[in-house]
Amino acid sequence: MIRIEDINFDEDYYNLLIRFLNKTTGLELGYYQRRHIEKRIKSRMIRVNCDRLELYYKYILGNPTEIEKFLNSFNINYSTFFRNWGVYEQFEDLILKSVNYSRSDIFSDLHPNLERKYIKKSKKNSSEIENKKININLKHKLRNKLSIEKFIKQSSLFKKLRDFSNFKGTINIWSCPCARGEEPYSIAIIIDNLMKQIPQFPEFRIVASDIDENAIERAKIGIYNEESTKNVSKYNEKKYFSKKKEGFGFNYKLNENIKEMIEFYSEDVMKRHQTSLIYDIIFCRYLFIYINRDARKRFLKILERRLNIGGLLFVGKTETILSSQSNLKLVDSLNRIYMKIN
Ligand SMILES: C[S@@+](CC[C@H](N)C(=O)[O-])C[C@H]1O[C@@H](n2cnc3c(N)ncnc32)[C@H](O)[C@@H]1O
Repeated sequence: MIRIEDINFDEDYYNLLIRFLNKTTGLELGYYQRRHIEKRIKSRMIRVNCDRLELYYKYILGNPTEIEKFLNSFNINYSTFFRNWGVYEQFEDLILKSVNYSRSDIFSDLHPNLERKYIKKSKKNSSEIENKKININLKHKLRNKLSIEKFIKQSSLFKKLRDFSNFKGTINIWSCPCARGEEPYSIAIIIDNLMKQIPQFPEFRIVASDIDENAIERAKIGIYNEESTKNVSKYNEKKYFSKKKEGFGFNYKLNENIKEMIEFYSEDVMKRHQTSLIYDIIFCRYLFIYINRDARKRFLKILERRLNIGGLLFVGKTETILSSQSNLKLVDSLNRIYMKIN
């Protein structure tokens, strides 16, 4: 068995491998952190018993199925519906506040379907699940309420919607990168639910981009497994998905009306974005953690240029951006929301 410390990592073969993967998959590994790529390559080398990069390079050339395995080990497209669902609750609160509605005026439930999670892990009884739900609910409500008041009035969302019955434009939202569609579809589900309950609800345009063509094709199909739908609430599952038995588990087919709400683009956003829109909200979650310092700086500039003054940028819960290099100010540290200030 090869040990990680015995692996010989030749620079020339590293460059050859990166070029080969870029040509065959379109993946721009040059944007990613070197240590992240190296870790993935080494773990694949151990699996296929190669202690030198030269051997692994030759192995991958002769075994096309290894390309797929390498990409899977990278786990770059990982996403779930309502990932960190409290962030989506905050997003919903922002919209509600902007149109001068409160939670008690509408019906919405974003709580993950805890029963579905617990069935697999343990046999928790229903009162335990209920208590857990109540605790999560209270914690999120309190935190959201505290942070939202501070910045909502400066946001372009609020300014556009203050008098929304006379508002003729659109609220533009960009999910970038969107992986297999879980993120933009979560946004669309929230908007659809509000739209059905609030008269004269404004128009939202939701754009979603990813560099990975296959991920975009999968997004357009809109069928998901149990892992990617694990945070969908019972209410949203019933309302927006049809559940079908598949092997030992289930798959979840998203309703057509939600699919139609998204404009998908397969594109390398670092090079170009195919719309000329300026956005009120951008979700750019779980990309910054993978990419290197240079790529992060470039990406941030691109996002900043695409935001309205008062536009909001949502990044991943574990991500921090260097706002000293931009006009972006952290306005909600719990949910990692930045605002473009000028
Ligand atoms: C971990 S996923 C993020 C999914 C989603 N935002 C979320 O939070 O669940 C990262 C995605 O970034 C995409 N990506 C990487 N570089 C990109 C680029 N230059 N332009 C567009 N998408 C890119 C990958 O293809 C992958 O689908």
